[in-house]
Amino acid sequence: MQRISIAPMIDVTDRHFRYFTRLLTKKAMLYTEMITSSAILHGDRKKLLDFSPLEKPITLQIAGSDPREIAEAIKIAENWDYDEINLNAGCPSDRVSGNDMGASLMAYPDLVAEILSEARKVTKKPVTVKSRIGIDGTNVLPESLPRVMLDQYEDLSHFVKTLKDRGTEHFIIHARIAILAGLSPKDNREIPPLHYEDVYRIKKEFPDLFVEINGGIRTVESIKRHLNQVDGVMIGRAAYEDAFLLSKVDALLPGDTLPSPTRREVIENFLPYVAQFGEDKRTAHHALKNTLGLFHERPGSRLWRQLVSSSLHPDMTAEEVLRKALRELPEEILDEWPVV
Ligand SMILES: Cc1cc2nc3c(=O)[nH]c(=O)nc-3n(C[C@H](O)[C@H](O)[C@H](O)COP(=O)(O)O)c2cc1C
Repeated sequence: MQRISIAPMIDVTDRHFRYFTRLLTKKAMLYTEMITSSAILHGDRKKLLDFSPLEKPITLQIAGSDPREIAEAIKIAENWDYDEINLNAGCPSDRVSGNDMGASLMAYPDLVAEILSEARKVTKKPVTVKSRIGIDGTNVLPESLPRVMLDQYEDLSHFVKTLKDRGTEHFIIHARIAILAGLSPKDNREIPPLHYEDVYRIKKEFPDLFVEINGGIRTVESIKRHLNQVDGVMIGRAAYEDAFLLSKVDALLPGDTLPSPTRREVIENFLPYVAQFGEDKRTAHHALKNTLGLFHERPGSRLWRQLVSSSLHPDMTAEEVLRKALRELPEEILDEWPVV
């Protein structure tokens, strides 16, 4: 069965954002932010792992490189009932790849295969991997690893086959390489060109695998196009830059679909959520932070952004902000139906 996912994004896909997102789409798979295995072992687990059942289905994304430590972290997370576990093998951030986690793991397919098979020993939940189509490690410091260039289709195919042979069945592939040194994470999401055809080719070469494509997908038309080639589409930045797009995705997937919500309904349904934080204005405003794109390129966009920017309204509660938005935003945009 095909699927649409909302990508794991640090500082974006927290509990509040996932709750908001779930008001727009009932079917999409949601992700946590990336959480390192050592944070789960040594950090505040409740804070890191708690989620509301309303957010389901939800995938926990883990970053790490030590198979036993990752397995320990997954064992702990079993108490939280995530729907799936995903390994991050695509993040180029120095903080991550500098420790041989994230995208640099693509240089070590056997290690990744071991991580994933150790993971499967401790959970019955599906274990998936999110990678790039390749890596360029040629500019990493001489003493650092991996100093390799793995940017050919054959390198990706070898990576996928190595994991497949050890039992991995579900791949999410960001269709650009990661440059491991010299680019910021942001530039690494924009500068290396997208090569969707490599991901399509993986699906053709390994038709039994579940292959999800990611990178630069921002419209209903492009989602449809990709779903003709692969099993799933993962949406990253567009999920917060153009949140209303998400109200259209359920209709693209099999199964019965509830009527898509209007922006008014989304805001009305988000009201009780922010109201529960009462006088804790900081948390409530934080909950509004990643909703800025709800009116993307529509009349009212500027007003909405001003309203939900807490620094402009330190005296108002988040609930008051949303009520004001319902009074002041253009009715025809609040009540606009998502057209697929
Ligand atoms: C703010 C931000 C944070 C991100 N954090 C993560 C992360 O924690 N784990 C991960 O695998 N990818 C992370 N990514 C990458 C996205 O999951 C996705 O692969 C990337 O943005 C490309 O998809 P897009 O073009 O649809 O945005 C992040 C992206 C952004 C914009």
